[in-house]
Amino acid sequence: TVVVADTGDIEAIRKYQPQDCTTNPSLILKAAQLEGYSGLMGEARGWLKSGESVDDVIDKLTVRVGTELTKIVPGNVSTEVDARLSFDQDALLARARHLTALYEENGVGKDRILIKLAATWEGIEAARILEKEGIRCNITLLFNLEQAIAAAQAGAYLISPFVGRITDWYKKSTGTQDYAVDEDPGIQSVQEIYHHFKSHGYETIIMGASFRSAAQVEALAGCDRLTISPQLLGELAADNGKLEVKLNEKMGHETEDTITEAQF
Ligand code: E4P
Repeated sequence: TVVVADTGDIEAIRKYQPQDCTTNPSLILKAAQLEGYSGLMGEARGWLKSGESVDDVIDKLTVRVGTELTKIVPGNVSTEVDARLSFDQDALLARARHLTALYEENGVGKDRILIKLAATWEGIEAARILEKEGIRCNITLLFNLEQAIAAAQAGAYLISPFVGRITDWYKKSTGTQDYAVDEDPGIQSVQEIYHHFKSHGYETIIMGASFRSAAQVEALAGCDRLTISPQLLGELAADNGKLEVKLNEKMGHETEDTITEAQF
């Protein structure tokens, strides 16, 4: 399992040394206000004052933070296209290409970034086109097996099936206080996708996302990748700094190995 940090916080990434990191607009905004990016929000306000559109400013901010992140993680930085465009294929394509071009201007190649697109029909069809252009996609906001299969068949590089948002929705709509891990509908959804992909030979990488608890991460230990917030990484790290999450047999693993040998 490749451990991914679900944050744009440079300090947290230095501390936990994940392979990859994932961002979204709210994580970018949080990160841009941290010390590691001092002055960036001021610069962004300047861009707005000089007449740049809000969309352009968001893109520039996203790529500025993303570029810094590529200097710290050895692997991929996931960068999200504004989810409000998720039902407009042409707009998604334009924004994905624009973000890629901005990264290239900063000296960051396509091989370091994944463009996050929501798992709508339009998002998946945009990914089909972008993948052919060498722009690798992370299909996000993915809540079921059907979306996962469609993304894999379109040739998406990676999918991010969500856990917590499914669990949250079930809790709210059924009035359930909490789910035991074995009955957690968010966990079950990712397990179903994982087993289907592995038994059908899909190459698309599965990265569990949207975790609410360490127990949810442990339940999916053994998934291809897991993107985990700094808070949960902190909860999962042992005193010796290692992430001692044992592979879970429900993910088809029977070993006593932990999800990573990396130092945390
Ligand atoms: C990661 O790629 C997602 O953006 C993130 O895990 C979403 O988590 P949330 O449901 O807490 O917003």
